[in-house]
Amino acid sequence: MKYYLSYNQIHKMVKSLAERIIKDGFNPDVIVAIGTGGFIPARMLKTFINRTILTVGISYYDENDKPKLIPETIQWIDEVERKLSGKKILLVDEVDDSRTTLEYCLNELLKYNPKELAVMVLHNKNKEKRGKLPVPVKRYYVGEKIDDLWICYPWDAQDIDEQVKLSVSGK
Ligand code: G4P
Ligand code: MG
Repeated sequence: MKYYLSYNQIHKMVKSLAERIIKDGFNPDVIVAIGTGGFIPARMLKTFINRTILTVGISYYDENDKPKLIPETIQWIDEVERKLSGKKILLVDEVDDSRTTLEYCLNELLKYNPKELAVMVLHNKNKEKRGKLPVPVKRYYVGEKIDDLWICYPWDAQDIDEQVKLSVSGK
């Protein structure tokens, strides 16, 4: 079973996430997007919470789609101490699946002693997680909790018109 989403649906989801983040009193200094899935959600978020976006590249699957022993950092933030130490960071990704990449990335960011570290994801899959959220991470914002389906994001669509049709029927 696949779950198709349109850009419009995601835009609205990000808007409502932003409203919840603001209402919750979390006022990040900086947004960190996990590439590549977190790039577009982070950019949408900037429309509602206008902060600098830093990006990181983490790869967990190898070229044969097999998970690596641990996620590998393929790109990280320069001048990291200045940009992250004592800052309130909001980490953004599209999906919390096994949680391995998220855990890895959160632990890397915690090394720089941020003032606060929070997470925003579009989807959290209801399944047994291999990774866990580090204890200092108290705020976790999720757009939609879903079953363990394969989510088809619009940025992966070969045919965006077909994607939009499928997203309406939700099959
Ligand atoms: P997690 O910590 O966020 O749970 O991530 P995990 O290590 O389990 O691996 C996440 C990778 O698997 C990400 O891709 C993510 O996009 C992809 N993924 C997991 N479930 C789905 C899904 O239902 N739909 C889609 N489209 N992708 C999914 P990646 O290969 O690490 O990088 P990228 O695709 O973001 O570039
Ligand atoms: Mg992916």
